[in-house]
Amino acid sequence: MSAPFAESAALRRVKPSATLAADAKARALRAAGRNVISLAAGEPDFDTPDNIKDAAIKAIRDGKTKYTDADGIPELKAAVCAKFERENGLAYKPSQINVSPGGKAVLYNAFVSTLSPGDEVVIPAPYWVSYPEMVLLCGGEPRIVPTSAKTGFKVEAAALEAAITPRTKWVLLNSPSNPSGAAYTRAELRAIADVLMRHEQVWVLTDDMYEHLVFGDFEFTTIAQVEPALYERTLTMNGVSKAYAMTGWRIGYAGGPEPLINAMRKVMSQTTSNPSSISQWAAVEALNGTQAFIKLNARLFEERRDLVVSMLNQARGMHCPTPEGAFYVYPSVEGLLGKTAPSGKVIQTDEDFCVELLEAEGVSVVFGAAFGLSPFFRISYATANSVLEDACARIQRFCGAVK
Ligand SMILES: Cc1ncc(COP(=O)(O)O)c(C=O)c1O
Repeated sequence: MSAPFAESAALRRVKPSATLAADAKARALRAAGRNVISLAAGEPDFDTPDNIKDAAIKAIRDGKTKYTDADGIPELKAAVCAKFERENGLAYKPSQINVSPGGKAVLYNAFVSTLSPGDEVVIPAPYWVSYPEMVLLCGGEPRIVPTSAKTGFKVEAAALEAAITPRTKWVLLNSPSNPSGAAYTRAELRAIADVLMRHEQVWVLTDDMYEHLVFGDFEFTTIAQVEPALYERTLTMNGVSKAYAMTGWRIGYAGGPEPLINAMRKVMSQTTSNPSSISQWAAVEALNGTQAFIKLNARLFEERRDLVVSMLNQARGMHCPTPEGAFYVYPSVEGLLGKTAPSGKVIQTDEDFCVELLEAEGVSVVFGAAFGLSPFFRISYATANSVLEDACARIQRFCGAVK
């Protein structure tokens, strides 16, 4: 007789990823023969540049295929230090750098290293789906701060101040944001820094994963750069996944205070050990080699953003703000709530909207409630213009058919 399966108490607090679920559903429908466009997944459609692939092949040929230091090879830590200095004006020593298997793992290693039961993490909404779930898994308590389209989906100083309690361990910032694409200006970060300066017990985790995807004359800045006094309690996280189209390689990195970096290394030494040695060598080339790809990439994404924003704003009942960066838009469906879809179902929530859109027009997107802010939905426009045009035309047709 075997014992029935039971999840751990920690895992029972956690939801599976809504974005992965939406993408999997689209794939299943497609396999069943339906013509489905998925705008649910958050990854660039470009291939990893050849110079990076060649560095990985060379690493294999050179026998760089063994265990490495748990939190990264010295060459990659040096490349990360040079990147922070060059692009962000931040001086980190190699002993202040963590390299993990993906940006996701950097975040998890930071939370698991620092959160004790009851510790709070302030997370502005809409948020990337994994933040609150990781906090819960690590025994902490997410403290969600809703924003609005009126503030460009950015947290305001007063709202942040009100969310901080004596139990607050971390404030999480993500700019440009997944899912809204919103990016904080220097002045906006200054206002946030002023709040944080009044709360010395609070650490800052800034997820700068989409740093290179900002459009027009928007200038990216990160919080430790805006307020150097916060450097001692900031973990500046980034990675190669989005900037260099390397989602499958699994390399993320961060710079921060040594005691935190040492704690994260301790976690890795007893769990994953090092990220793939081959991927690490590829990341060295990504950071040290030509950066031409990044600008090209950003220009293409900007064109796509403009296409999608323009087409969605022509859909009846929909409003789509123009985000500063990343490859997402976060349109409102407020104008469609209470109306009836072609199936006869009344659209009461953003989830209803997404289910009915998939049903009627075969377009898969992710509902706003999954990111903690309704009534919106997220489109990832990291796909070809022709696909985006087709998808937006279908959305327009759906909105036109809603009565
Ligand atoms: C805001 C944000 N942070 C972190 C990550 C994770 O990146 P990685 O694929 O390197 O784990 C993602 C990926 O979707 C993201 O959108």
